Amino acid sequence: MARILITSALPYINGVKHLGNLAGSMLPADVYARFQRLMGHEVLYVCATDEHGTPAELAAADAGMDVRAYCDAQHEIQKTAGAGFGLSYDVFGRTSNAPNIELTQHFASVLEEKGLIEERVEHQVFSIDDDRFLPDRYVEGTCPHCGFERARGDQCDNCGRLLEPTDLKEPYSKISGSKNLEVRETKHLHLLQTKVEEDIRAWVDASTEWPVLAKSIAYKWLDEGLRDRSITRDLKWGVPVTQGDAPRDGFENKVFYVWFDAPIGYIGATREWATATGGDWERWWDTDKGAQDVTYVQFMGKDNVAFHTVSFPATIIGSGESWKKVDKLKAFNWLTWYGGKFSTSEKRGVFMDQALDLLPGDYWRWYLTANAPEGSDAQFTWEHFQGVINSDLANVLGNFVNRITKYANSKFDGQVPATGEAGADEAWIAAELEARLPAIKANLEAMEFRKAAADVRAVWAAGNEYLTRAEPWVKYKSDVDAAAVGVRTGLNLVALFGILAQPFIPDTADTILDALNIPDDKRSWDFGENAADLLDALPHGHAVTPPAMLFKKIEDADLEAWAERFGGSA
Ligand code: MF3
Ligand code: ZN
Repeated sequence: MARILITSALPYINGVKHLGNLAGSMLPADVYARFQRLMGHEVLYVCATDEHGTPAELAAADAGMDVRAYCDAQHEIQKTAGAGFGLSYDVFGRTSNAPNIELTQHFASVLEEKGLIEERVEHQVFSIDDDRFLPDRYVEGTCPHCGFERARGDQCDNCGRLLEPTDLKEPYSKISGSKNLEVRETKHLHLLQTKVEEDIRAWVDASTEWPVLAKSIAYKWLDEGLRDRSITRDLKWGVPVTQGDAPRDGFENKVFYVWFDAPIGYIGATREWATATGGDWERWWDTDKGAQDVTYVQFMGKDNVAFHTVSFPATIIGSGESWKKVDKLKAFNWLTWYGGKFSTSEKRGVFMDQALDLLPGDYWRWYLTANAPEGSDAQFTWEHFQGVINSDLANVLGNFVNRITKYANSKFDGQVPATGEAGADEAWIAAELEARLPAIKANLEAMEFRKAAADVRAVWAAGNEYLTRAEPWVKYKSDVDAAAVGVRTGLNLVALFGILAQPFIPDTADTILDALNIPDDKRSWDFGENAADLLDALPHGHAVTPPAMLFKKIEDADLEAWAERFGGSA
């Protein structure tokens, strides 16, 4: 039994996440966690809300709320949405909770002892009316290159040129619109990444199990050369900058940069888990205390890769302490909304809480796993969604389960028939299973989610093909025993389909397995490779009940209404 630590990138607190966020980190992490648990491994799946930073402060201000109260409320909303999608976190923590604050301050002080932190003076735009320094993205003005009037302090969206806030003409605060700005000196802590660059490169070189997308992004950053970076900000909401137990001199109004404390949140959330359950967090994170046996797997969108392959490693490698580092890093491309960006304000795209108002979580889970933005970006369209759901779930899986369980109910007293001998049709489906089952495991192990889902769908389709060949309903008229074999095999296939469905569509899988009265200890994935055994695994005479209809089809009228509400062309 292996021990597997799984984390998905921590979702920002400001606002409910859209389907693309779900598809590119939390959902695949969950599918993987469920798969590894079914394989009998010890899994710890950790997630949390990423709560600090300017966007959280501003979102709270917009909502007219105190930032902590805002985060409390948003955390609950995200937690509920995650539960609605069946995300089986062992803990859903918060980066603003005490364990993460302590750990962040700990890392900063250890890095400073190692000579990796330096105070440096910077020049930054201060808004007198807002009474605060403005992060680059919150200064706007006229682009000196193209004259665009709403260029941001870091980049002009019109001509694409990178900017410094001080380049802008007629600058104003994006927060209040005030033009009453001045450049002031401010000092910040800098992490001297240049000093750990070689260690990071050596570690990346040695990390042979990263898929290519992650590895290539890491090298791109390393090849460009790391820069020392500021790890504090002039903000109120965040992890206070301390020295010993006291606020650090001159840093009373500053906090750590959100990207410094956020990944430490993986460890912080694990400590929250330990406190809540009596578990041992060091066994998962300290390679002197058991974590040397852990395989650590991270899931994230591609924009997060540099932070996880370079910045966070600079923190933990730089500390010189025995922290567990990532072994496998799975990165995703973007899920697009009809080829463009999701946007709440422009009514483009479905957000997690809204999605659950339309359909149960499993519909989304299946679609987003089978069409994960894995090798390249993937497009969400209502038409494609409808096609996939109606075909894969309603026709291929749902009909199979309903048809055979109902038939067993009406002709065989709702019991697994005992009579009849397996023949050519059963040999055919057995061969199909023997060819396909190992691929499902192998692809999940390799975190190839689209392929794994395609393999599962192919097994469901083979089941349908088997019934077309075996035709128990036709045989029943002349040879009840021949029909009995078909129904027995069909019911065993239903059980197998339920078992295979668990990582992907867990609620539906439970419905199927419950209808077949499969005990909990018979739901794992330790099935052997001998398909003939799998096809006659249920005890003869075992009682089964037809489940309620598993999936309803998506009608054209639904599509029109949803496109109207969330955008898209119907
Ligand atoms: N909140 C970030 C995002 O949504 C991800 C943070 S991952 C962490 O892009 F590890 F830093 F927490
Ligand atoms: Zn411009």
